[in-house]
Amino acid sequence: MKRIIHPVAALTATLCIAVFFTSTVFVEFFGSHESVAMIKGLILRPGLFILVPAIALTGGTGFALSKNRKAHLVKAKMRRMPFIALNGLLILLPSAIFLEHRAAAGLFDGGFYVVQVLELLAGAVNLTLMGLSMRDGLRLSGRLRHQKAV
Ligand code: HEM
Repeated sequence: MKRIIHPVAALTATLCIAVFFTSTVFVEFFGSHESVAMIKGLILRPGLFILVPAIALTGGTGFALSKNRKAHLVKAKMRRMPFIALNGLLILLPSAIFLEHRAAAGLFDGGFYVVQVLELLAGAVNLTLMGLSMRDGLRLSGRLRHQKAV
């Protein structure tokens, strides 16, 4: 069961961050203030209600799958996970709430854009870390071959 839940939760979480990121960039460049507010609302609800449990499930099942495994790829995944979780809880979550409140009130001031840039940077960091963990996971399960050093 863990073997099924882990990749499904991991893919769901990674796709959530990717969709939040690309829709944010797209709407900032091409959308009106109303569409920015709409995207911010959707990221909060249902977005975070999907992302937060998906990340928790990914971490929980990942650690359960790692019992008795000592491969360096497992260690690398274990080391990344606290950064992914803390980045989400301390930067992405408060930023999403702040930006939604501001956008809903029509307040697109300097503070909004500073937090928006911070959120995009934190999102890019998490996407990178999750992408690396996905690659290592696929190597661990044997679906992706290790590249031999030349
Ligand atoms: C956001 C973070 C993570 C992502 C995106 C991710 C993604 C994946 C993926 C895609 C697989 C391959 C599954 C398959 O081919 O069926 C996998 C396997 C695995 N993951 Fe993760 N994972 C994450 C976090 C973790 C964590 C924190 C751990 C534990 C430290 C972990 C431990 C494992 C293990 C041991 C496997 C191999 C399972 C097997 O033997 O088939 N993962 N992961």
